[in-house]
Amino acid sequence: MYCIKRGLSHIAKATDGFSAANIIGRGGFGSVYYAELRNEKAAIKKMDMQASKEFLAELKVLTHVHHLNLVRLIGYCVEGSLFLVYEYSENGNLSQHLRGTGKDPLSWAARVQIALDSARGLEYIHEHTVPVYIHRDVKSANILIDKNFRGKVADFGLTKLTEYGSSSLQTRLVGTFGYMPPE
Ligand SMILES: Nc1ncnc2c1ncn2[C@@H]1O[C@H](COP(=O)(O)OP(=O)(O)OP(=O)(O)O)[C@@H](O)[C@H]1O
Ligand SMILES: [Mg+2]
Repeated sequence: MYCIKRGLSHIAKATDGFSAANIIGRGGFGSVYYAELRNEKAAIKKMDMQASKEFLAELKVLTHVHHLNLVRLIGYCVEGSLFLVYEYSENGNLSQHLRGTGKDPLSWAARVQIALDSARGLEYIHEHTVPVYIHRDVKSANILIDKNFRGKVADFGLTKLTEYGSSSLQTRLVGTFGYMPPE
């Protein structure tokens, strides 16, 4: 799918017109909507920002990164906003399970499995892709849990989005407050 032509009309239909009932989360860049696209469950992240040419090229590469423990980027669309279409994870994020906000606590076995899954997903992007990606926003809200209670790392490759276009240095801090090393 990659860059979906006239994608906005498909996406609007799939999210029931971006209805509030379809919102599954809010993050640093915008809202995430539940959608059904081509009979596949999807999560669509609407980002209110301009994506540079370099970043769109980067997104195309990201759609080719596949691993059991990574949330797959199915495609994207630029029309007004930037829309990222991801595979849907049925059981929310790890933070919701750990903090007991609306989700049941996990068994010890499930926790160990999710820790291992997360480590495998990170190892893959850190060591086995070309180019390699450094996640830079690892936190429990970015570990999603699928229908079989397996962990999947979300939002890898996105920190570059905030770097292109600005004349920032490589050493600029990115991530989420509270999850960055104090130094
Ligand atoms: N593919 C997905 N499947 C199911 N739920 C998702 C998916 N992507 C995101 N979500 C839900 O939407 C929430 C918001 O996601 P989002 O990435 O915008 O913010 P965040 O992870 O809380 O913070 P950050 O902006 O730093 O990544 C997630 O925490 C998760 O609960
Ligand atoms: Mg996230």
